[in-house]
Amino acid sequence: MSKILCVYYSRTGKTETLMQDIAKELGCEAVKLEDGINRSGLAGWLYSGMQAMSRKVSPVNKPETALPLSEYDLVILGTPVWAGRCSAPMRSFLLQFGEELKRVAYVITRASENRYEQVFDQMDLYVPKPRERAVSIQCGTVGSSFWRDEFLAGLRDDREDT
Ligand SMILES: Cc1cc2nc3c(=O)[nH]c(=O)nc-3n(C[C@H](O)[C@H](O)[C@H](O)COP(=O)(O)O)c2cc1C
Repeated sequence: MSKILCVYYSRTGKTETLMQDIAKELGCEAVKLEDGINRSGLAGWLYSGMQAMSRKVSPVNKPETALPLSEYDLVILGTPVWAGRCSAPMRSFLLQFGEELKRVAYVITRASENRYEQVFDQMDLYVPKPRERAVSIQCGTVGSSFWRDEFLAGLRDDREDT
């Protein structure tokens, strides 16, 4: 049985709902990143956008997980797209702990039609091996559950092959 962990950041709950669904389907742990910064309201939105654009990060707390990060067979990272990049808390997590992740898959959520697949390549810069799977989801659209289910089916196929 594969040891899978979901790690996500979510400012307004969309990525959280999606990642909790994915974790439930896979029967695995899910942990949310926290960096102690108040990102609510317009001021929080502006600050978050500026942080994403400048690539500046604030440290995130190491999430509490049942096993050390290096012992998971797969870590699924979920983040909203901010200014065409991954969110600052996810970038911070990757900077601090990315080297510990054996295998990764990505889930990004976005508001617009643009799929922002370049974000996957940006995230790959922080981990030892490129992503195994990735999906970009425009939450609340008709296609979103289709893309989530396709991602899950791909992960299950990968697990059967290993
Ligand atoms: C600071 C900031 C920048 C954003 N930039 C983008 C963007 O460049 N493109 C996009 O499609 N959505 C953008 N969004 C929208 C979020 O990616 C989208 O609503 C996401 O699903 C929210 O996830 P959450 O509810 O988990 O925080 C941005 C949101 C914030 C707060």
